[in-house]
Amino acid sequence: MPLTLWPQVFAILRALIQERTGIHYPDADREVLAGRLSARAEEAGFESLLDYYYFLRYDPQGPAELEALVEHLVVQETYLFRELDQLQALVDHVIAPRVRRKERVRIWSAACASGEEPLSLAVLLAQARCLDGVELVATDISRRSLERARTGRFARRSLRALRAGPAVAGWLEPCPEGGVKASEPLLKRIQWRRVNLVDEGEVRALGRFDVILCRNVLIYFADATIVAVVERLSEALHPGGVLAVSVTESLLRFGTSLACEEHGGVFFYRKPAA
Ligand SMILES: C[S@@+](CC[C@H](N)C(=O)[O-])C[C@H]1O[C@@H](n2cnc3c(N)ncnc32)[C@H](O)[C@@H]1O
Repeated sequence: MPLTLWPQVFAILRALIQERTGIHYPDADREVLAGRLSARAEEAGFESLLDYYYFLRYDPQGPAELEALVEHLVVQETYLFRELDQLQALVDHVIAPRVRRKERVRIWSAACASGEEPLSLAVLLAQARCLDGVELVATDISRRSLERARTGRFARRSLRALRAGPAVAGWLEPCPEGGVKASEPLLKRIQWRRVNLVDEGEVRALGRFDVILCRNVLIYFADATIVAVVERLSEALHPGGVLAVSVTESLLRFGTSLACEEHGGVFFYRKPAA
């Protein structure tokens, strides 16, 4: 049985979670949040979610506990070559032309989960002979996901789009225990870092990028958070740089300063050139 999440406690806990992680729980998800909070609060020795709230907000150990809680809150669903058309269009229309002009291209996979997205992009870049001309940074709020990502191992559930994807021999090799393992040269090209997208300082510290992928994470945020995060990502783009979000996450309803561009049914948002 999960600990009881009274409506008043739900209100203050969800506000705290939204403030610190961006993740929004609508009223209808009170029971879902109760289950996730209870799992971690009980593990940490709490018998009441109100006590847990006070600890998270006011105890000096609160920020560390929040990091542990995040592991119970995030949805890490992802797989190799997810929304492949968009990744391929980024390589063909944005990255490869610049690399061929000998420009160094900085790319950021901004909520990379267990690494399938940046690894997929790295395979496509390697096949286009562009991998040496890019810097690829992959970040997530979840330390546990990043630990998994660094191993370069992907379980069977990450392979569901592999057959429809490009040839991967030499880049992704089958593991004896099932799943696949990314090759070392591919893995070495990716810099993994923990970054919380709602933390302005952490985002600024990464510097500027030519391409940012921020896919399938904005859907967990409230509208005001999406606007703030997109604003921050826009600042992190070089003039002329491109932001890619998922097909389910159109930014047009927020009136962003980025211009929407279409390439054969695939959409990007481009920062105006200076
Ligand atoms: C559904 S996965 C998306 C993974 C990948 N981008 C894709 O499209 O397949 C969502 C990821 O967003 C991360 N996330 C959630 N809130 C975040 C935040 N505030 N900052 C950074 N990452 C966050 C989660 O940890 C999770 O790994």
